[in-house]
Amino acid sequence: MSKEIIVIASDHGGFELKVLLKSYLTNNGFAVLDLGCDSTESVDYPDFADAVALAIKEGRAKRGILVCGSGIGISIAANRHQHIRAALIHDRLSAELSRQHNDANVIVMGGRLIGVDVAKDCLRAFLSTNFEGGRHQRRIDKMS
Ligand code: RB5
Repeated sequence: MSKEIIVIASDHGGFELKVLLKSYLTNNGFAVLDLGCDSTESVDYPDFADAVALAIKEGRAKRGILVCGSGIGISIAANRHQHIRAALIHDRLSAELSRQHNDANVIVMGGRLIGVDVAKDCLRAFLSTNFEGGRHQRRIDKMS
């Protein structure tokens, strides 16, 4: 069976966490499409949110990860795209709910705020939790 591709990107504030999350993904049976950035040199987070949104729109991946310093700017930028439901996550329960109720297709974390173990736990929950549909689908349809 071919591996699911997860698209990932960050700005400089999220670069270090992105590197760790990439290892987590490859160690856990996923393929990674990394759209940058490539160092801690200063860049602009909207460019990386847009790159992930485009990759999902074009079907190069179904699910994505974005990281900036706080997670705030890059989640705002990602959610400007109509097909993106990006959830800024700080804890495991929120990661589960973002899938169960919101069918989030992008998880966002703040590399300067979240601990690495918590980040991996959130990612694990995000990737393994299914959307519940039903009344939640109706609400999502109202945003489409
Ligand atoms: C970059 O310094 C920082 O502003 C950015 O990573 C993010 O936290 C913005 O919301």
